Amino acid sequence: MKSIVVYCSKTGNTEKVAKAIAKGISGNVDTVKLDLSPEGLLKDFSASFTLDLSPYELIFLGGWVMVMRVHPFLYAYINGCKNLEGKNVVGFLTGGAGFSREHAYDDLKGLVNSRGAQLVGFSYTPTLLGLTLTRKKLRAAEEFARHTMNKFNP
Ligand SMILES: Cc1cc2nc3c(=O)[nH]c(=O)nc-3n(C[C@H](O)[C@H](O)[C@H](O)COP(=O)(O)O)c2cc1C
Repeated sequence: MKSIVVYCSKTGNTEKVAKAIAKGISGNVDTVKLDLSPEGLLKDFSASFTLDLSPYELIFLGGWVMVMRVHPFLYAYINGCKNLEGKNVVGFLTGGAGFSREHAYDDLKGLVNSRGAQLVGFSYTPTLLGLTLTRKKLRAAEEFARHTMNKFNP
């Protein structure tokens, strides 16, 4: 089963979680970092960048919470990607505090559903600007991905 991890990260918290998620998937996985300039262009070329999600069965979408919502880079990707319809999506978000969890979850779920896909898993990692992004939380993210993979690819 082929999977993809697509994420955005400004200060590195979500990137650490994305790496832990990819480790937990441990198999056929592509990773795409959404790294856009203010003009909307890709700043760093990501070799595995793709808008076409048809080769992937499980799609992990990650980002950081900005003003209680999914970050605009991830938002733009979800709206612009191709062949998301009918796919299983797993969300992972980081936020400064726990209080944004439900709001950000609803935002992500609405976005994914609006593209005809379903959110089959969700993880939220509170970071307090990186101060509380402990190894334990990263291991939990890795385990979350491993558990999700086992569920869909026993
Ligand atoms: C402009 C801005 C707005 C933010 N808004 C929220 C928010 O509404 N809720 C929250 O929990 N964290 C918020 N944060 C904190 C980030 O989501 C958090 O630090 C995240 O882990 C950063 O991820 P990154 O290191 O991958 O960029 C905000 C941070 C910035 C810079």
